[in-house]
Amino acid sequence: MTPDPRKEHAVALHLDDVTVTVPDGDDTLTILDRARLAVAPGELVTITGASGSGKSTLLAVAGLLRRPTSGEVTVADRPTAALRGRDRTALRRDSIAIVFQAAQVFPSLTAVQQLELVAHIRGELDGAARRRARDLLDLLGLGGRADQLPGHLSGGERQRVGIARALMGEPAVLLADEPTAALDPQRAREVMELLAAETRRRGLATVVVIHDPAHLDLADRSYVLHGGALQPATAAVPSP
Ligand SMILES: Nc1ncnc2c1ncn2[C@@H]1O[C@H](COP(=O)(O)OP(=O)(O)OP(=O)(O)O)[C@@H](O)[C@H]1O
Ligand SMILES: [Mg+2]
Repeated sequence: MTPDPRKEHAVALHLDDVTVTVPDGDDTLTILDRARLAVAPGELVTITGASGSGKSTLLAVAGLLRRPTSGEVTVADRPTAALRGRDRTALRRDSIAIVFQAAQVFPSLTAVQQLELVAHIRGELDGAARRRARDLLDLLGLGGRADQLPGHLSGGERQRVGIARALMGEPAVLLADEPTAALDPQRAREVMELLAAETRRRGLATVVVIHDPAHLDLADRSYVLHGGALQPATAAVPSP
């Protein structure tokens, strides 16, 4: 597991005492309670937990989509608590990719255009980027589907487009919120294996929220989110 040295960060993703509270009538609801998490380049960490335990909130905080009430989030060596508007957006754009439960793809763009859009937003859409987009789709087994609109793809294919798009941005941090929820068990396994392989190959710091304990064996570390904090999960029992 040798991460690409160009993308080696001492701290790829670090959540330090992250607390998120929201008003709840006259009361305050604590969603995250001094949660701590450190993910190094090339590491895949999984998080499970009951519905409503705060998994998506944790990913939103880690992905700089939501500010915690207190605590520090460090991404690609940069502490973010004091980071404002444009700098925060730039760090998110340059360092973080998020894969959602149902791949949020644009209905009017073909598979390859979804990837090219990532380069376009960065002002980097040239011939090399176009080739890279097709290479990534090839890698994910979608070479023959590159020019299809999402409406003509299966749920599993759309999800793989979502992952290819996430990799297109060359992120330091990859966050995935139940990326296999819409897939049958075999496709789900393939997608998880792919995430694990790309994590190691590209030196990503990857956090995957998953429901299915069948995939915990692919993780370097697994946590359960409970009471607003992360606790180490017991080792997965390999399926027979
Ligand atoms: N902005 C908000 N305002 C009020 N409550 C919120 C807000 N965001 C999240 N919550 C609450 O925080 C709790 C955690 O939500 P979250 O979506 O993070 O859970 P989850 O673990 O992802 O659940 P699931 O497994 O169902 O996706 C829930 O009780 C939710 O209703
Ligand atoms: Mg959720």
